[in-house]
Amino acid sequence: MEKRAILVTRRLPGVPFGELAARFRAGDPPPDGPMPRDAFLLRSAGVSGILCTLAERVDGELMDAAGPALRVISNFAVGVNNVDVAEATRRGIRVCNTPDVLTDATADLGFALLLAAARKLSEAERFLRAGRWTCWDPWGFLGVPVAGKTLGVVGMGKIGAAVARRSRGFSMRVLYSGPRRISPAAEAELGAGYRDLDDLLAESDFVVLCVPLKPETRGLIHRERLRRMRPNAVLVNIARGEVVDEEALAQALSEGRIFGAGLDVFEKEPQVSPALLEARSAVLVPHIGSATGDARERMGRLATENLLAVLEGREPPCRVN
Ligand code: DGY
Repeated sequence: MEKRAILVTRRLPGVPFGELAARFRAGDPPPDGPMPRDAFLLRSAGVSGILCTLAERVDGELMDAAGPALRVISNFAVGVNNVDVAEATRRGIRVCNTPDVLTDATADLGFALLLAAARKLSEAERFLRAGRWTCWDPWGFLGVPVAGKTLGVVGMGKIGAAVARRSRGFSMRVLYSGPRRISPAAEAELGAGYRDLDDLLAESDFVVLCVPLKPETRGLIHRERLRRMRPNAVLVNIARGEVVDEEALAQALSEGRIFGAGLDVFEKEPQVSPALLEARSAVLVPHIGSATGDARERMGRLATENLLAVLEGREPPCRVN
């Protein structure tokens, strides 16, 4: 029987391309960067499985290009906003993702951004590297305290809960918001109180965004909501850039209406708006939430297992639809 075809869109940690190529028609070894759209459309033709990343859009056009053999889209990410899941479901195509294995890495980064923005780490480092440090300055780079302050977690899923747990070491009070309350036992374990989003923004010193990108979370933190935040508040986004109105955020930062921001994600990655690049109080990193060797390796293994399971007629460990 002829081997089925698969497509792995780029070289990925934890994805054993050689082993996959021994079992399936996998084509040339994948490139190091994201697959350009043209190549993605072309190389998808006739495949049964696609293992891709959030840099590649899997929409109806791509599914058409793949054709009826396509059974599984295995995303190397927990977020699946690059995949048209509804369309895949309509066509009976399984969509899989990689939750859990990146929870700690992403929560660590969220907390790192919180601390970095609170203590102006990026700004201070830029100053030092520019050779501008001439003597110890009792007035320089004054930050805001973290210990004992209020943390507002927007989206108390696994990553949100992991951020909340990290805040215990800083004796923080924890609030959360989301479409629904977590169980009373989970609230007690996390020491977290539920607020609606507007109240959470008004009460929190640090707001960490951990929601998936969905129609209802796109633009969630808009201009009016930014106005509700405290003057000394810090906004951290480890979710998706589109959750925040970036222009409004850049304006709030430049006018000093909030203290700072820590951003891992951006509306138009890999482009970052010039206004945000200008904002000195923003700590900006290039979508590195899950970037530990361990997490990325485990994401690759899980994405591979998801792909194989569906192609072998087994239940995949992590399916979205
Ligand atoms: C995800 O998995 O959704 C992250 O954004 C990248 O690891």
